[in-house]
Amino acid sequence: MGTFVGYRCSLCSAEYGPREVPYTCPRDGGNLDVVLDYATIRRTFSAGSISPAREPSIWRYLPLLPVEDPGHEGTVLRAVGWTPLLKPPRLAHLAGIDHLWLKDDGRNPTASFKDRASAVAVARAQEIGADVIVTASTGNAGAALAGMAAAAGRPAVILAPKTAPPAKVAQLLVFGAKVLLVDGTYDQAFDLSLEAARVFGWYCRNTGYNPFTAEGKKTAAFEIAEQFTSATQARDAGAAVWAVPEAVFVSVGDGNIISGLHKGFKDLLMLGWIERIPRLYGVQSTGSAAIYNAFVAGVETITPVRATTMADSISVDLPRDGVRAVRAARETGGAYLAVSDEDILAAMRDLARAAAVFAEPAGAAAYAGVVAAVGERMIGQGEHVLVLNTGNGLKDVRAAMQAAGEARVIEPTLKALKKSMQSS
Ligand SMILES: Cc1ncc(COP(=O)(O)O)c(C=O)c1O
Ligand SMILES: [Zn+2]
Repeated sequence: MGTFVGYRCSLCSAEYGPREVPYTCPRDGGNLDVVLDYATIRRTFSAGSISPAREPSIWRYLPLLPVEDPGHEGTVLRAVGWTPLLKPPRLAHLAGIDHLWLKDDGRNPTASFKDRASAVAVARAQEIGADVIVTASTGNAGAALAGMAAAAGRPAVILAPKTAPPAKVAQLLVFGAKVLLVDGTYDQAFDLSLEAARVFGWYCRNTGYNPFTAEGKKTAAFEIAEQFTSATQARDAGAAVWAVPEAVFVSVGDGNIISGLHKGFKDLLMLGWIERIPRLYGVQSTGSAAIYNAFVAGVETITPVRATTMADSISVDLPRDGVRAVRAARETGGAYLAVSDEDILAAMRDLARAAAVFAEPAGAAAYAGVVAAVGERMIGQGEHVLVLNTGNGLKDVRAAMQAAGEARVIEPTLKALKKSMQSS
């Protein structure tokens, strides 16, 4: 907190103090980047001093976050992040590259990447004395907020489209949040939550609106660098400079995860803890490709689409963090890819069968993007490529059954078993 100096608008570069504005730029609605006092952080901490035996969670990076220690030791709020970095050889073989890394953020407390954002947003809410926290969500951000709010003993209100997968709605309810299913799209739920926050004085955690969500999400970049360094032994443990893979793939809806990752790598570069930023690749569904369209057209203006994809978490008409998301790929030498729902279903099977990672459609989309990028020769055979799974497959069982098919029912006899083993 001592190093949080304010915000800078991503559109007009206007600067604001830490308590001057709550959400987006009052002039133009641009997303605000959190500005830290890098000189002080550099003087006080180093990559070497961060690594050893710290808390295995996002809170190991507290000196780089714009919040104070939120407390709540012993709760899941302290167990967010530090998700496993895998290097499944059979998946690499399938993708046709030598070094494929898979960071499984489905292993977070509420089973998605969004816990990173919600934990930091709850910490901020506490600090500014907010009571009720509201969010619009396709499901995961809401489940993450509901879970983190339950851990911190705070009230939360979640507005999700009524089409959200039942498992996600069950999660929202079981954590005790006030859950309202909107008879409309995610985008309509988004607009309603802004209005409700204004009228009722609630603190709004919305993705691509609240500047603290990207700050939570940037912790994945820190973990990628720290874990990649120790896994490759590219540097000594506790090294002063961390190594990073050549490319990172992540799925994109509102564009806040990829923007958060970009911010995290930029922070590390500013601090001199890494020497370069990986190329960032955003993967969208062809049925929800507003940011992909802008990237391909070489513009930053995001034109809304009418989203239709079975990957509900990345089904967004008007991405709320589109400008920064386009820049994340452009400024790092990465790109955007669009994959079909069939590609996503195939990726779910491949991840599960070659890496034993059960991903929800939006999580698997990132791997489908790797396959597409290899096909288009965007990545070299010998490069280190990291793909982020952002959500657990149990979140959307219907999609999993679509990917894997139905199980056969048989008579409880060996004869019936034999017969079914013979047929395909
Ligand atoms: C599992 C999963 N993957 C990817 C995303 C996309 O993140 P963003 O909307 O920040 O681009 C989400 C967002 O809800 C998600 O839940
Ligand atoms: Zn502005």
